[in-house]
Amino acid sequence: MKRTVLFILTISTVVACSKKESSPVPDYSKAVPTETAPPVETPAHDSSAIFAEGKSLLEGADCLGCHKVDAKLIGPSYNDVAAKYPNTPGNIDLLAGRIIDGSSGVWGQVPMSAHPGMSRENAKKMVQYILSLKK
Ligand code: HEC
Repeated sequence: MKRTVLFILTISTVVACSKKESSPVPDYSKAVPTETAPPVETPAHDSSAIFAEGKSLLEGADCLGCHKVDAKLIGPSYNDVAAKYPNTPGNIDLLAGRIIDGSSGVWGQVPMSAHPGMSRENAKKMVQYILSLKK
């Protein structure tokens, strides 16, 4: 009798243990990687994309017939424009408006012709390019 009880106890212990082992609770806390992820390559900065776009828009328009980057032509050099106006949203708006509507009396007596067909968005990109020429 004593043997039988011992036997049953042993069996039930083995069964209980094997049951426990067959369904272990996964320890997810150990799966968390301790290494930090490698730095993601930073995409081209927005302003440099606008710079390139403004530059190509400007080269595709009539601007360079009257303006040069580093010398006065009929209009002021773009370096001079960049030196006169800080690169602020207000100045970008102001100058984009002057490109579209034309301008006179700011740099001399020769007026800049209006560009009525130009979108404000494109004019602003050109101004952003010009104002970032500052050395
Ligand atoms: C017919 C010649 C001519 C063309 C073409 C021309 N400009 Fe001008 N631009 C001028 C003159 C002249 C001035 C100076 C006007 C003044 O004194 O108000 C000027 C002034 C400017 C200024 C400064 C405005 C200010 O208020 O200080 C900017 C910016 C400018 N031009 C950008 C451009 C861009 C961009 C284009 C092409 C889309 C362009 N210009 C095409 C002659 C021209």
